[in-house]
Amino acid sequence: MLEQLETLYKEAEAAIQGITTAEALQEWESKYIGKKGSITLMLRSTGQLPKEERAAFGQRANAIKDLLASAFTEREELVQQQALAQDLEEGQLDVTLPGRPQPSGGLHPSTQTFRELYRIWGDMGFLVYRSRDVETDEMNFSLLNIPEHHPARDMQDTFYTTEPNVILRTHTSPGQIRSMRELGKNGTQPIRVILPGMCYRNEQVTARSEMQFHQLEGVVVGKNIRMSDLKGTVTEFARRMFGKNARMRFRASYFPFTEPSMEIDVECFLCGGEGCKMCKYSGWLEIAGSGMMHPVVLRNGGYDPTVWSGFAFGMGPERMTILKHGIRDIRYFWGNDLRFLEQF
Ligand code: DAH
Repeated sequence: MLEQLETLYKEAEAAIQGITTAEALQEWESKYIGKKGSITLMLRSTGQLPKEERAAFGQRANAIKDLLASAFTEREELVQQQALAQDLEEGQLDVTLPGRPQPSGGLHPSTQTFRELYRIWGDMGFLVYRSRDVETDEMNFSLLNIPEHHPARDMQDTFYTTEPNVILRTHTSPGQIRSMRELGKNGTQPIRVILPGMCYRNEQVTARSEMQFHQLEGVVVGKNIRMSDLKGTVTEFARRMFGKNARMRFRASYFPFTEPSMEIDVECFLCGGEGCKMCKYSGWLEIAGSGMMHPVVLRNGGYDPTVWSGFAFGMGPERMTILKHGIRDIRYFWGNDLRFLEQF
């Protein structure tokens, strides 16, 4: 049987040399190495041989099958090239035809907004600091001057994990503590960072609120940092983001981690302050919460609040995207609906 195998091998090898068409090549394959090819059949009948011959025969038959398989691939390429060359020669291949356009993906509208925010804040000297999504209860609340049982904790319905005191962050503000501790070098260095990222709240999902959303936090700590610095900085930001005539409005507010605190509005860029549906006929759009950093928070970040001061702000990029494009439902952002995504 081994002899028979070698003869077949020689025959197959010789036969492939003359092949010039894809059809003939296909025939060759089924004749020798296809499912019902002669080599394949021989390999399958190894079991009928006397026990002591089986191993050697099987090995050789497998080796031959591999050799013929690579001969096939080689020939296939040659045949394809020849066919292509022939088509070209006979003018059957029109190389002047325009190519088929490849559909290309696009950036998610949130990604686009983030890139714009990085560019603007980056130009204004802010470093991007990446903080973590999974946080301790302490970082998310206590160190930000939100003690246990403080009513402010009710403002945020929290996702707890099976690990005690480990939660999904409800805002990017815990990054304030982490960035101060890491970059402030025990309260000796000023910092100027933005903290972008996803936040999670256990909320009823509606057209206006999702249980996951982005925030972009900003932190500036230095000496003699004042409220006027905060106002000037966000005004400059708004000019770059919404146009150089953007007008600002600041409203007194309350956050446990800032004192004093204020809400920042920008004049509605759709109606120019006249009042329209987007601004709910108020002429103003709320874009951020902010304030002077609370001494307790500065201390928790490693700074001496009698020497250092700072401001912080937190904004919602989805809200900005919604305003910019007139998107009516926040659920589109995580809906993975291409009809929505392809518009951007
Ligand atoms: N953490 C606040 C929230 O999730 C937003 C915020 C308000 C951040 C004021 C700040 C700030 O840094 O100063 O609603």
